[in-house]
Amino acid sequence: MPRRIQVLPEKLANQIAAGEVVERPASVVKELLENALDAGASRVDVTVRNGGKTEIRVADDGHGMGREDALLAMDRHATSKIRSEQDLAAIRTLGFRGEALPSIASVSRMVLETAEREGHGTRVVVTGGQMAAVEDCARRVGTTVSVRSLFFNVPARAKFLRSTAAENRAIGEVVTTAALAMPGIGFSFDSGPKDLLTLPIATGIGERIAALWGNEAAAELLPIAHRLSAGALSGMIQRPNAARSGGRRTYLFVNGRPFGDRNLVRAADRAYKTTISPGVHPHLFLFLEVPDGEVDVNVHPAKAEVRFRDRIGIERLIEEGVRAALAGLESTPSIGLRQPAAYPIV
Ligand SMILES: Nc1ncnc2c1ncn2[C@@H]1O[C@H](COP(=O)(O)OP(=O)(O)O)[C@@H](O)[C@H]1O
Ligand SMILES: [Mg+2]
Repeated sequence: MPRRIQVLPEKLANQIAAGEVVERPASVVKELLENALDAGASRVDVTVRNGGKTEIRVADDGHGMGREDALLAMDRHATSKIRSEQDLAAIRTLGFRGEALPSIASVSRMVLETAEREGHGTRVVVTGGQMAAVEDCARRVGTTVSVRSLFFNVPARAKFLRSTAAENRAIGEVVTTAALAMPGIGFSFDSGPKDLLTLPIATGIGERIAALWGNEAAAELLPIAHRLSAGALSGMIQRPNAARSGGRRTYLFVNGRPFGDRNLVRAADRAYKTTISPGVHPHLFLFLEVPDGEVDVNVHPAKAEVRFRDRIGIERLIEEGVRAALAGLESTPSIGLRQPAAYPIV
């Protein structure tokens, strides 16, 4: 009998991985932002053309790469972030799969420019997963990745791209989430002619929220801080009297990583129950810190979800934490309706 099974060529394997990781321009921005943050950047600039469908460019001032690393970075499962099974249980970087760059490069025309020494840079050009050029370039320490013609070789996927405005909105949401996770880093997002977000370095979450949505929105929030054996919770939650129906903002982070989890949002809502009418949904900005090994971040290809070992403990931490913050509000009558925040918004 002839052999039926064969190992897929690298380029095809990358395109299949891209199917999971790269859904739309916003997923490319998410992966490139994560790489910039993992590289220790203090500022990250995102520029797109045509909602990212024509071009996405992410520039950082992180530690950059030498030539060998820049080439290796384009290989599947090549990462500087973990080395062993043990590392997988204690991930503190946003990336660890070693899949983003080769996946994105397999479905676009990518140019990566990077330097770890001032002026001594490398430019790597990859088109549809094929290495097209490697050359010297003069640039500052840091990395710029440009991704043009996303899905040019995957017409089935290209068809699902939405309008420029819709793609820009999704990218704005990705930048916003990263900016909330890292107030100490400066971000910008522009669509070529238009500045969509300008976020200077902030000293904390309150200041970052004010830069995103204005001082008034920030003044509607209360600080929250709670600790249980499952972990520690901090952040900001909206005052019950300021909450409205619709347009809800819920952002969850664990050990600095954004994730989605409806049950945890519900846990927070339970704590609000007696203070707000049904159908009204307060904004939540919740930051969890849990010990290594308590959270598994390797459950979703795009790293959008996580799994907690002690999920009941985490739900309790959130419910109790929100309740305690709201109780503090009741016992301080001076913080009445529609008054400015009792803490400084710098
Ligand atoms: N902006 C960047 N600055 C410095 N190094 C980078 C940057 N982007 C990628 N790299 C390097 O390339 C490697 C591969 O990146 P990626 O494919 O996203 O995988 P991962 O982030 O999971 O390691 C990273 O581990 C990192 O060493
Ligand atoms: Mg990465």
